[in-house]
Amino acid sequence: MFGKKKQIPQIDKEQLALIKYAEKRIKQKKRVYIHFVIFLIGSVFLIIANTILGIGKDTKIFGLDWFVIAVVLWLSLFIYHFITVFITHSFMGKDWEDQQLELLVAKQQERIEKLKQEYLKEEKEIAKSEAYNQAQDKPTTSEKKKTEITIIVAAGENNAIGKDNDLIWHLSDDLKRFKSLTNGHHIIMGRKTFESFPRPLPNRTHVVITRQKDYKAPDGVIIVNNLEDALDAARRDPQPFIIGGGEIYKQSMSIADKLEITRVHHSFEDADTFFPEIDKSIWTEVSREYRKKDEKHAYDFTFITYLRA
Ligand SMILES: NC(=O)c1ccc[n+]([C@@H]2O[C@H](COP(=O)([O-])OP(=O)(O)OC[C@H]3O[C@@H](n4cnc5c(N)ncnc54)[C@H](OP(=O)(O)O)[C@@H]3O)[C@@H](O)[C@H]2O)c1
Repeated sequence: MFGKKKQIPQIDKEQLALIKYAEKRIKQKKRVYIHFVIFLIGSVFLIIANTILGIGKDTKIFGLDWFVIAVVLWLSLFIYHFITVFITHSFMGKDWEDQQLELLVAKQQERIEKLKQEYLKEEKEIAKSEAYNQAQDKPTTSEKKKTEITIIVAAGENNAIGKDNDLIWHLSDDLKRFKSLTNGHHIIMGRKTFESFPRPLPNRTHVVITRQKDYKAPDGVIIVNNLEDALDAARRDPQPFIIGGGEIYKQSMSIADKLEITRVHHSFEDADTFFPEIDKSIWTEVSREYRKKDEKHAYDFTFITYLRA
């Protein structure tokens, strides 16, 4: 029942290829032979058809009986067949094919090797320049990411931004602008600002900074213990927004690339939280859009964008 396993004869790939090739050659030679026999019989038939049966007796091509032309054409075809199988094959046969293939593979390998060398050279150059930049304290290629840290704030003429952990005004168009600018981005904020929201804002990733180690927040809200970790949590975002409040604005002015200010044209004297002074030698105004007060907006205001000079 559990007898010895039958040995299966093993033929390696090369042997198999040779056998297949030999079979192909035999078939080709057989076809030449069959062609020759058919040619002989066919020619005899054409001669009989014309000379004995009288088919196309009066038909001449270039002054010759048509069967002569037909036999010559057929003979040429047979000779071509013969030459392809027996003569051309001798110098363009399998060995020639293998040789060509080897040449092709060698050429490809040479190209790959060249490309590899070029790639390694390039990598070395990049590594060298990154090391140099690091030594010079310059940002490296990988660090020179296109992240634009943006501070967004609405502030009165006296830089007031809030009172009793709440905003002092309600400006519908300002909220709309805030929503559209921050939509889909990380919004970084201090714990107090976070707590001033009734609930997390939709379609934004909240990053909340607190010194409390066990601060609890709803699912999806990222809690960090300092500003560096907040920026790290948002590192894949090309434009993370710092949305306040006063303490966080103060700490992030030096690392921001852009300021999106809504300047509310009124001085709010009873405010308890303020935005830092904008140093015009550091910040360049790049756009400004004025809005007049109306039934939805109790104050005139201006959207101003600054970029680090
Ligand atoms: N007008 C506007 O555009 C605007 C925007 C946002 C906010 N606001 C207003 O601003 C006011 C809130 O601002 P705020 O200055 O009082 O508070 P905040 O900046 O929102 O949050 C302060 C809290 O952040 C945490 N924190 C700050 N620096 C930290 C650090 N380096 N490391 C770890 N945690 C740190 C601390 O949390 P823990 O105490 O938990 O440690 C701190 O108490 C509210 O009135 C709000 O309405 C206005």
